[in-house]
Amino acid sequence: IAGVNTYENVKEANYTRLCSTKPILTVNGKFPGPIIRAYYGETVYVNVHNKGKYNITLHWHGVAQPRNPWSDGPEYITQCPIKPGGKFRQKLKFSIEEGTLWWHAHSDWLRATVHGPIFIYPRKNTSYPFQKPDAEVTVILGEWWKSEIMDIQEEFLRTGGGPNISDALTINGQPGDLYPCSKSETFKLNVDPGKTYLLRIINAAMNVVLFFSVSKHNLTVVAADASYTKPLTRDYICIAPGQTVDALLHANQEPNNYYMAARVYSSSPVLTFVNSTTTARLHYSGNYTPTSSPSLPKLPYYNDTRAAYNYFGSIKGLPKRYPYKVPTNITTHIVTTISLNTFPCSEGQICEGPNRTRSAASMNNVSFQTPSSSILQAYYNHVNGVYDRGFPSLPPFIFNFTAEYLPLDLEIPKRGTDVKVIKYGSTVEVVFQGTRLLQGIDHPMHLHGTSFYFVGQGLGNFDKHKDRKTYNLVDPPFINTVLVPINGWAAIRYRASNPGVWFLHCHLERHLSWGMETVFIVKNGKGHHEKVLPPPPDMPPC
Ligand code: C2O
Ligand code: CU
Repeated sequence: IAGVNTYENVKEANYTRLCSTKPILTVNGKFPGPIIRAYYGETVYVNVHNKGKYNITLHWHGVAQPRNPWSDGPEYITQCPIKPGGKFRQKLKFSIEEGTLWWHAHSDWLRATVHGPIFIYPRKNTSYPFQKPDAEVTVILGEWWKSEIMDIQEEFLRTGGGPNISDALTINGQPGDLYPCSKSETFKLNVDPGKTYLLRIINAAMNVVLFFSVSKHNLTVVAADASYTKPLTRDYICIAPGQTVDALLHANQEPNNYYMAARVYSSSPVLTFVNSTTTARLHYSGNYTPTSSPSLPKLPYYNDTRAAYNYFGSIKGLPKRYPYKVPTNITTHIVTTISLNTFPCSEGQICEGPNRTRSAASMNNVSFQTPSSSILQAYYNHVNGVYDRGFPSLPPFIFNFTAEYLPLDLEIPKRGTDVKVIKYGSTVEVVFQGTRLLQGIDHPMHLHGTSFYFVGQGLGNFDKHKDRKTYNLVDPPFINTVLVPINGWAAIRYRASNPGVWFLHCHLERHLSWGMETVFIVKNGKGHHEKVLPPPPDMPPC
């Protein structure tokens, strides 16, 4: 268990994958990074010391950070970056979450290698709402690039799209033995027959939603995004970047060698790396002759939208563990499109899109422009000119967003740093509406500062009269990242009781870089315990 204080040094270390070695940015030299362990209700202080050569910030994904956006981490949203040589002490208070979360860099594309798990155990003297596992196992799904990640990002931004396809998928940082020269780079899990293992699964990949499965074994999902669920037994799970899943694995098959594997789920046909599969081994202890070539688990086909959609629709929350009832009386309605767009190419830019365009992305037709100083600091100190309060609550144009042919001029979004201001204590509903502009695809939308009830999803255009009747207001999961289905919608509800400046964005790194994000500012309430805390003395300067 991490003590009250942990010390994390961000620094470079050499790692070899796919037969080539490169320096990567790590925390304490580890890739994936160290585990933060805590009990529900505890507070942990993390002392970050940037010994690398890039500006960096760290974010604690899914940790609500009550009244304390100062420690949240997204660059230029709640803080300016920690410069090389700089230090920053961040406070993590586990006030709602129980289960698995993770931490990652929240500046540039650095989270590719700078990430690690957070395990939050039940409050002392209480237990899991499921059978106590014999052991817990970290399963971090990720991506590996042979080139330097900052070069990948640079090329991506310079070309307005560019190649950003990773060279391998990984399990616990290892590609697995289906990739060239990766025999020794395979994660191995040794299990004892009859025992039960709690897999703490994290999708830390940059740009891909994944299916994950263990050959011949079922997985029983017991928590999603550090909130307990009704047990759901499946032969595969689907997990989007940002999401976490706690799943029980019973070692109840014939002692042998088995594969676990992850592969891309992509509703978009343009991605060419859909054939790539990362593997790890499950190895039973005991005396037996193992199969020399175990079979791969069956995973849904890469573009099996139904397999993803149905999986997410099957996850039910555990109402007796809810922090509050699912809101039924909504005071703040927000409907927002999430679109891929294009910008015309300006002089000197390399643009690889059709008709000299470069890719962009937007919410409600605003492509978010990241400011060069922190929005939280501007908000707290009443500084003008850093952001606008103009984020629209409804799409600025009404049409069938999922129609086959959409007017081309809708493809060009406006640019702005438009935030949405929300009253303390509001009950909020957000409907994310995917569009067919440029190209429809699933988007994992993530909100900082709170989890939310995922109450509904559908394909096609959201119809507020018809679709609200289909909501699950009884036992929806309480999560922090929702996968909005391709050319469809997803609806979430929550109570805005955490004052602060909270980032809302697509967790596909390429869409985040293109502007698929906004900020929700939850104002202070009247009570003494309803206000943002004062900033710590060591906030990194802008
Ligand atoms: Cu996983 Cu804005 O973060
Ligand atoms: Cu997206």
